Amino acid sequence: MRVLVTGGAGFIGSHLVRELVFRGYEVRVLDNLSRGSLQNIRDILSSVELVVRDIRDYEAVEKAVSGMDAVVHLAALTDVEESLREPNLYAEVNVVGTLNLARASRKVDSFIYASSSAVYGDPVKIPIPEDHPLRPKSPYGASKASGELYLMSYSKIYGFRPVILRIFNVYGPRQSTSYSGVIIEFIRRALRGEPLVIYGTGEQTRDFIYVSDVVQAIVCALKSRTSGVFNIGSGEATRILDLANEVLRILGLDNVGLVHEETRPEDIVHSVADITRARRELGFKPSIPLHVGLRTTIERLRAALST
Ligand SMILES: NC(=O)c1ccc[n+]([C@@H]2O[C@H](COP(=O)([O-])OP(=O)(O)OC[C@H]3O[C@@H](n4cnc5c(N)ncnc54)[C@H](O)[C@@H]3O)[C@@H](O)[C@H]2O)c1
Repeated sequence: MRVLVTGGAGFIGSHLVRELVFRGYEVRVLDNLSRGSLQNIRDILSSVELVVRDIRDYEAVEKAVSGMDAVVHLAALTDVEESLREPNLYAEVNVVGTLNLARASRKVDSFIYASSSAVYGDPVKIPIPEDHPLRPKSPYGASKASGELYLMSYSKIYGFRPVILRIFNVYGPRQSTSYSGVIIEFIRRALRGEPLVIYGTGEQTRDFIYVSDVVQAIVCALKSRTSGVFNIGSGEATRILDLANEVLRILGLDNVGLVHEETRPEDIVHSVADITRARRELGFKPSIPLHVGLRTTIERLRAALST
């Protein structure tokens, strides 16, 4: 199977591309390297076709999609705070970029789109099912939801199989240290001996999923014949306070404290995925418990920071 992976030089993309190459897929990567890096895929560069172009450029996208059986669309800007400062940029990359990919996918069989739990906004139901209303609280969330709609409409126009994966909070090695989530931020601060910053009480919860489990979900989606919308998370809620203490415990740092700062308005209080549908229809089975994934992430980040 020939697969185009957009954003293949990024965090999730680099793990996915490695797995696809290992499984014998023919892989083409489309990435403008604005946030990802060739360093992330240097050991497999000879096994993939690399196209360094921008998804906002329709002609480049059309060329990159040509000859492919499937598209896995990961390329995006992903920082919620930045999206509040640069909403138009987020619309250009995440909305127009996704529209370009969908519009160019006339001849592909399936199209897998990395959406986000950010499309839900503040949940009215926990765990969050896929039929929960979409009420994004940030331009980032709105841009991901809008991408979903373009994908669904082009799947009707062209007949490709659409799979929308609403991914919750991913963590793991090679996660960008500048646009990262709370886990990498905690580890970085702890390794520098700085207190971990908690916004609000720390009672808020998140659904953390290790990157290899997300890769597994994408592979399941590629292999399946199913279409539709699927939550991808661990299905378990972790309190931010417990996460901070676990990071400090693994690192054996009892002298590093926690500081509380004011809650940020764009933050969601509770978030955990109902993954029943993905389990049942995609055969998705998250397998890495948080303490195991955290240990690996900490070891790899520590090694990377010391070189
Ligand atoms: N990491 C998470 O916790 C998470 C959670 C939910 C959804 N997602 C989604 O998963 C996808 C991948 O996220 P990630 O964490 O790997 O992000 P990332 O920033 O590490 O990777 C994104 C990649 O897209 C590329 N890119 C950005 N703009 C581009 C453009 N205009 N043209 C071509 N390439 C461009 C970047 O260079 C980068 O390599 C995104 O669509 C994101 O919305 C991520």
